[in-house]
Amino acid sequence: MFTVRTIHSLRDHLHPWRRTGERIALVPTMGNLHSGHLALVRRAGEIADRVVVSIFVNPTQFGVGEDYSTYPRTLDEDIRLLLGENTDLLFTPDVGLLYPDGTDQGTWVEVPGLSGILCGRSRPSHFRGVTTVVAKLFNCIQPDVALFGEKDYQQLQIIRKMTRDLCIPVEIVGVPTVRESDGLALSSRNSYLTLAQRRIAPQLYRILQRCREQITTGEYDFEAVASEARRELQAVGFRPDYVEIRCANSLAPPTPDEEQLVVLAAAYLGRTRLIDNIIFSSK
Ligand code: PAF
Repeated sequence: MFTVRTIHSLRDHLHPWRRTGERIALVPTMGNLHSGHLALVRRAGEIADRVVVSIFVNPTQFGVGEDYSTYPRTLDEDIRLLLGENTDLLFTPDVGLLYPDGTDQGTWVEVPGLSGILCGRSRPSHFRGVTTVVAKLFNCIQPDVALFGEKDYQQLQIIRKMTRDLCIPVEIVGVPTVRESDGLALSSRNSYLTLAQRRIAPQLYRILQRCREQITTGEYDFEAVASEARRELQAVGFRPDYVEIRCANSLAPPTPDEEQLVVLAAAYLGRTRLIDNIIFSSK
């Protein structure tokens, strides 16, 4: 595995692969890699000839007062983990490379509508930061396929739309969420939890599972299901941000005859904001 920090050396490595028609996959990450990221890397190796991983803690997707400065940066350990996987190239740009005129003077890529709902309501500039940096990474690497975790389901749908709307020739592949044995979705932010919070955290997934069960057994009052889930979250110690049942493809509020659904939630344990979702068929 080679590690590169500049566009020039990135292109030097990519060029021969592209010339010989190899299929190139990109796994964009912010580092602090865990088994969820490694599942993306493994899947990338199954569907492409070459795997590029990027590690970049993107300042523009963090809001004021959020955890940009304290976000775990563990590059040496990340490299060690990637060496055990099928990674061909690691791209670790610095902020100046991706934001040459600073983080507030550049060009933005924004997906309106989808970016303002769910997580976008409490993190108003978050998805604009995500789509901007992912578009930059797509331009730098020009992958044939890019992989994203389904845990960030809204992010995945927004990136799909950005890619379609901007005619970017890359296939977007979603990879199922990897969970701890007690159901908690893996996330770099789980490391912020105290022991007591860690014990409560798996309830988020359990409560979403109950929502799915209620709907698949015939409850079509989605708002009633969601508000009961919000009450349950509060009762076990969360501060719920939202619980919503949405159409899996459009993230629009569903009608009772909609089959492909997703139940999504965000909730705080102390200062840590956890998100999770379950994609399911209602019939
Ligand atoms: O999901 C993430 O880790 C980030 O949002 C991404 C896609 C790498 C963009 O910074």
